[in-house]
Amino acid sequence: MSKKTLQARRLEGTDANIWVKFVTLTAAHKAVNLGQGFPNFPPPDFVKDAFVEAVGRKDTLMHQYTRAFGHPRLVAVLARLFGKLLGRELDPETNVLVTVGAYQSLFCCFQALVDEGDEVIIIEPYFDCYEPMVKMAGGTPVFIPLRLKVAETGKLISSRDWQLDPAELEAKFTTRTKAIVLNSPNNPLGKVFSRKELEIIANLCVKHDVLCFSDEVYEWLVYDGNEHIRIASLPGMWERTLTIGSAGKTFSATGWKVGWTVGPDRLLKHLRTVHQNSVYHCATAAQEAVACGLEKELERFGKPDSYFVQLPQRLQQKRDFLIQNLVAVGMKPIVPEGAYFLMVDLSPFKIELPDQANSEEPYDSRFAEWMIKNKGLAAIPVSAFYSSQQKKNFDHFIRFCFAKEDSTLKAASDILQEWSRQKPCL
Ligand SMILES: Cc1ncc(COP(=O)(O)O)c(C=O)c1O
Repeated sequence: MSKKTLQARRLEGTDANIWVKFVTLTAAHKAVNLGQGFPNFPPPDFVKDAFVEAVGRKDTLMHQYTRAFGHPRLVAVLARLFGKLLGRELDPETNVLVTVGAYQSLFCCFQALVDEGDEVIIIEPYFDCYEPMVKMAGGTPVFIPLRLKVAETGKLISSRDWQLDPAELEAKFTTRTKAIVLNSPNNPLGKVFSRKELEIIANLCVKHDVLCFSDEVYEWLVYDGNEHIRIASLPGMWERTLTIGSAGKTFSATGWKVGWTVGPDRLLKHLRTVHQNSVYHCATAAQEAVACGLEKELERFGKPDSYFVQLPQRLQQKRDFLIQNLVAVGMKPIVPEGAYFLMVDLSPFKIELPDQANSEEPYDSRFAEWMIKNKGLAAIPVSAFYSSQQKKNFDHFIRFCFAKEDSTLKAASDILQEWSRQKPCL
């Protein structure tokens, strides 16, 4: 075959994708879907209506290109909102970039700032696209796992009990380290990094002159009175941090694919170069709707009728419902402090899977596939959120998404209860 059909070298080792496999399997088996991370309830009316209104407007501007680096109304409100959150004045034109979802923000960060030979520190478990994105940019991912730091007591483990070892982290910083990727609240664990933990990371970034790509797409989703702290607000961090957000996660509208990066112009200008030479611009009406939504949220910031206040309250109830049901059937959930996922430890009920003896695939992946096919319930194997070196050590967790209608969670709970009656599976 002609060599012309070979993939570009930068794609080597990046072709497998967990989402493609599990989304297809879930659909084929019509499984109750607690797998992929999206709400199956609608976005709030005030944002949905703003989208419909924008598309229906008499003037045709909503259907045409807008400003390449972000619709003026959207960058204006993002600058106001993040100015307030970070305690500094932001310029909508130079401190904010609107992208096609947080995914494109991440892509722009790596493409714009990571070079051949650069190392990028990634904390495990991590949103899976970080690794291929670093590699595509020519960089080398350097992994450090969060480790469970408490002895088992019979009490439920919290995502807070998973911590970085400060000495191990420091050892990962070398002269080649260009950036660290932080994701708080974290997908898939739900960990919300504490101020103390963030200070350790921030001090190392300052000491070693390292950038921080801070993926904060779940910034509004924190539970039990936890606080989401933005690392860009810590001393010495604004000038080296790119803060990434997502309207999809913020307004439960993941299909709209509107995201943003907030940061200093000296870094953002390089992301603008990637953006203008690839995507150039994002859907105008979607940006207008997100702008309207954020304006409304700014007006009622911190008040009981704010969506940013109500959504986490609603999700916390869903989290607790799922936890209760998992515990009732003998599973061991890890209680997340944030985001809308929870990890479940499978070790207490490891079951013999048909192809266990000779399969190279991690146990959790085979378990999740078996569960979809045999129990009609979909979850995502957590080994997919680990580097190849660590997969084997973390192959006994699956991730459930609880941003689902109560009826979906009830359907999942019925499956679990039925399953627990058919011992010895559980
Ligand atoms: C941690 C994290 N970052 C980024 C994204 C991508 O966000 P978006 O849908 O806005 O591209 C996701 C989506 O699941 C995510 O979990």
